[in-house]
Amino acid sequence: MGTLDGRVAIVTGAGRGIGRSVAILLAREGASVVVNDLGAALDGSGSDAGPATGVVAEITESGGKAVLNGADVSDHAAAQDLVHTAIETFGRLDVLVNVAGILRDRMIFNMTEQEWDDVIRVHLRGTFNTSKFAAAYWRDLRDESAQHRIINFTSVSGLHGAPGQPNYAAAKMGIVGLTYSCAHALAKYGVTVNAISPGAATRMTDSVPGDRRRAGGAGQGQRAADERSPDNVAPVVAYLASERSGWITGRIVHSAGYEVSLYSNPEPVVRLIGTEPWQLDELAEQVERSFRPRLR
Ligand SMILES: NC(=O)c1ccc[n+]([C@@H]2O[C@H](COP(=O)([O-])OP(=O)(O)OC[C@H]3O[C@@H](n4cnc5c(N)ncnc54)[C@H](O)[C@@H]3O)[C@@H](O)[C@H]2O)c1
Repeated sequence: MGTLDGRVAIVTGAGRGIGRSVAILLAREGASVVVNDLGAALDGSGSDAGPATGVVAEITESGGKAVLNGADVSDHAAAQDLVHTAIETFGRLDVLVNVAGILRDRMIFNMTEQEWDDVIRVHLRGTFNTSKFAAAYWRDLRDESAQHRIINFTSVSGLHGAPGQPNYAAAKMGIVGLTYSCAHALAKYGVTVNAISPGAATRMTDSVPGDRRRAGGAGQGQRAADERSPDNVAPVVAYLASERSGWITGRIVHSAGYEVSLYSNPEPVVRLIGTEPWQLDELAEQVERSFRPRLR
């Protein structure tokens, strides 16, 4: 008996890295998995069916159920086909895990429009595309007691503001807003929506200087490599994909190495409530007296 027996999941970006680990664990826990991956290079260029084909073979050879889908998640129509693939192949859809992503790192003053657009398109539009068609399917079922799940991928690059990744940070914080919005919109259809902030050693972190990213893990050599494995992000995704996680929605969970943390959602920490329009001098005095001490 697996935790996810009978459930059907789509995992985007499942050919490599964290998506691959997630797809394999979901299948091992009994889910039927649509393994989506364009097989793009880290910068989003090109395509290659090889990695996703390998993951499907790995799952099916060990007795699991999986089907290949090579869609570019940033293509609206292809994302619709991706959702249809799950329903046509396995009869239903319970879980959508939006992992697919690329990097085009550049400081803000050097970034091109293309670098900005490409990263926003794959991460933010890609997450919107798949979520829209999954949500439309679940809304049509109109089952408040359903246990459907969307699990998005955000990043510490957005949550903490990595200076060399303005496009990626913005896309990943856009995904946080999308997560909050969808959590509120879809609760009445039995859908929870959460975001994972992962840390793991993959080709993505290989491309980033070590001091700019907390990929998780401590120590040296094999022990550190084991701790930084993308396999360590998969369990919390499998938990969120399960029927027992229905109590949590609209939240960010950080998972890196052997750490799993719950982030707080934004809320005001100091409030100044006037009774008439603020005069500039008075406002300056009040915010400096009230806000500044909170920023130390
Ligand atoms: N590795 C980390 O420490 C880390 C940290 C923060 C956030 N993330 C996020 O986690 C997710 C997975 O990252 P990873 O490190 O495993 O990266 P990765 O590069 O190993 O895997 C990403 C996968 O997405 C696929 N992909 C890219 N564009 C696609 C598209 N348009 N359609 C379908 N598939 C596409 C790629 O082919 C690749 O297989 C990403 O969203 C990333 O931003 C990773």
